[in-house]
Amino acid sequence: MAIKVFPLIAKEEINKKVKELAEKISKDYQKKELVVIGILKGAFVFLADLIRNLKIPVFCDFITVSSYGKATESSGVVKIVADISFPIEDKDVLLVEDIVDTGLTLQYLINHLKAKKPKTIKICALLDKPERHKIEIPIDYLGFKVPNKFVVGYGIDYDERFRHLPYIGYIEIDEEK
Ligand code: IMP
Ligand code: MG
Repeated sequence: MAIKVFPLIAKEEINKKVKELAEKISKDYQKKELVVIGILKGAFVFLADLIRNLKIPVFCDFITVSSYGKATESSGVVKIVADISFPIEDKDVLLVEDIVDTGLTLQYLINHLKAKKPKTIKICALLDKPERHKIEIPIDYLGFKVPNKFVVGYGIDYDERFRHLPYIGYIEIDEEK
């Protein structure tokens, strides 16, 4: 099996977009107590860059959900492997996701976090694959729309590979090779 990676979004483009998103978030959350929650593992690189570009203080936490394994299709069944580590009641929460595909993960996590009674909850996603949506979740802060390809890099994996790439690419798998 041979996997080829084709470049899609250059690291300079990503850096520029992350700065723009951080500017907007910094303006919107002035004088608020913002808790940024990253969805692991895919969002860890994006979140690390995003918070370092913010001009406001934030609290950080993470929530780990189960991954696809070797599949490139979401099963639609979301499993929380590790929950957030401190209370978010009455806090302003920003949930940070690497990529929105069907929208099922976000729907599940929003409901899960809403039960913890935050004051507000908004979504920041680096990538969105609109063609694949099964449900429409409003994305408050979006980096890029991407075509219906399996993307990797900048924290995003295929079967735990390619997270280290500084750019975003898409893969093509040749089963015969
Ligand atoms: P959803 O529940 O279908 O929206 O899937 C969301 C999750 O699936 C994301 O958080 C990613 O971890 C993963 N995912 C969706 N599309 C891709 C992709 O193209 N490459 C890598 N992971 C993906
Ligand atoms: Mg993810």
